[in-house]
Amino acid sequence: MSINIAVLASGRGSNLEAILAAIAEGKVDAKVKLVLVNVPGAGALDIATKYGVATTVIPNAGMTRKEHEEKVIAELKKHELDFIVLAGYMRVLSADLLSHFKDSRGFFKVINIHPSLLPAFPGIRGYEEAFEYGVKIAGVTVHLVDEKVDHGPILAQATFERLPDDTLESFKARGLKIEHEIYPQVLQSIAKGGVSFFQRHTADATADRETARR
Ligand code: GRF
Repeated sequence: MSINIAVLASGRGSNLEAILAAIAEGKVDAKVKLVLVNVPGAGALDIATKYGVATTVIPNAGMTRKEHEEKVIAELKKHELDFIVLAGYMRVLSADLLSHFKDSRGFFKVINIHPSLLPAFPGIRGYEEAFEYGVKIAGVTVHLVDEKVDHGPILAQATFERLPDDTLESFKARGLKIEHEIYPQVLQSIAKGGVSFFQRHTADATADRETARR
């Protein structure tokens, strides 16, 4: 089954491009209904245009979070969306915004990719902090979004090694390449039926699995 998504981005849009390329190649059964950007001129806009996807720019400068999110919610609600996909969207989504995109079980239909093995190194400097810390194994995480930053249920993780001669740049480049593989894979798994995840705070993990699905 195909899923309808909106992609929210703020910057260069390489994850957006990986998703759009995978869809174009028939590897992901999804349709990007909208690319919504909060930074005028962001690279993600050119990428969306290249793939013929509708774009909307809703700058947040000079607006309160509430004012900005009201516009974002209104725009997203124009579409029948199965998931909202965050790809370098540099804004925290408020609980109020998330509440508009809740599934029947109370999970939010919002997915994020984060450049670390969560729960290590949340925040906007995932690669930098992992590198500065001196990790030997680094990684990326795709997760459902919840009310806390970089915190929701983990859908997928992939690891990579820090090599002895890595610079921050080579380290980040290797991680980003993995992001571009794992994000489309997760979307395809959801389109194909769902991605299971473990819920937190329970001793009996086997009894406490859930599935992110359409
Ligand atoms: C990626 O590293 C992603 O994990 C993080 O922000 C970055 C966005 O890069 N959330 P791009 O705009 O997709 O190139």
